[in-house]
Amino acid sequence: MYKRVDVRVPATTANLGPAFDCMGMALDIWNYIRLETGHEGILIYGEGSDSISVGQDNLVWQAVSRVFGQVGQEVPRLRITCRNNIPLARGLGSSAAAVVGGLVGGSLLCEGLLDQSQLLSLAAEMEGHADNVAPALLGGCQIVAQTQSGWTTSRVPVPEGLRAVLFIPDEQIATAQARAILPSKVSMEDAVHNVGRAALLVNALASDHLELLKLATEDHLHQPARQHLFPAMKSIFKAALNAGALGVFLSGAGSTILALTRGREMTIGYEMADMAEKAGVKGTIRITRPTPLGVQAVDGEGVDTWQQ
Ligand code: HSE
Repeated sequence: MYKRVDVRVPATTANLGPAFDCMGMALDIWNYIRLETGHEGILIYGEGSDSISVGQDNLVWQAVSRVFGQVGQEVPRLRITCRNNIPLARGLGSSAAAVVGGLVGGSLLCEGLLDQSQLLSLAAEMEGHADNVAPALLGGCQIVAQTQSGWTTSRVPVPEGLRAVLFIPDEQIATAQARAILPSKVSMEDAVHNVGRAALLVNALASDHLELLKLATEDHLHQPARQHLFPAMKSIFKAALNAGALGVFLSGAGSTILALTRGREMTIGYEMADMAEKAGVKGTIRITRPTPLGVQAVDGEGVDTWQQ
């Protein structure tokens, strides 16, 4: 019997500056995934169409087969079609989206036998970190904490009207490379610096005290080391703040730089791009917003149109 499932899954930004590996937020940029039984193959359109594997190591495929394995069913003959809008290896959660989309699509295909906490554990295990997969799955801004029995998540309210201005460099940064460069130990001083700012960040968002974001997005744990991979980072941060951004940080492991704002989006984007150009870094500006929504089933929306 022919069966079809369509899901869409959001881009995500992790760390938000100080909350390294502990916080992530879903963004209003979506990948669409269609799973169809009775056909075979993997088709990729949009971002990564010329680089994503269409073999057994494809992440969506691996996630779908992981679900079927988990519930003890054989994977049916399956065609996977992806319409990707999330740029790859830019710190915007493209692999989390593939994993979460594949797990949730697979779970719907075999009649939704996995609950949210099972999906989160599986996604975090496949992806390696939960800070992108939690917001991709649940939407909004999520704090993640690992316990012996799994992951605990908590949603941070995001104020109305908050916008994200992204500078997305043409150059990719592989998360593995951006982690390898990190120190294995940090000083008590740096730890205290980040704990205070991460706490401030949660309160700034939850209580709509956005004037705190400049301080609350500062970081001493990962961005200083990552600056070696991306020397223009600091000057692009400065350009965003000078143009009126409320706070600015490296999105996940990079290479995207994300400025938070409520207003002046075009000016901030222009100034970030201008500074990047002066530093010889090519890239594009994209203005988006946080989304409270995570992965969801859709009725062909965004999938039917782009196949024509
Ligand atoms: N928090 C991770 C990092 C990226 O900064 O390396 C997202 O999992």
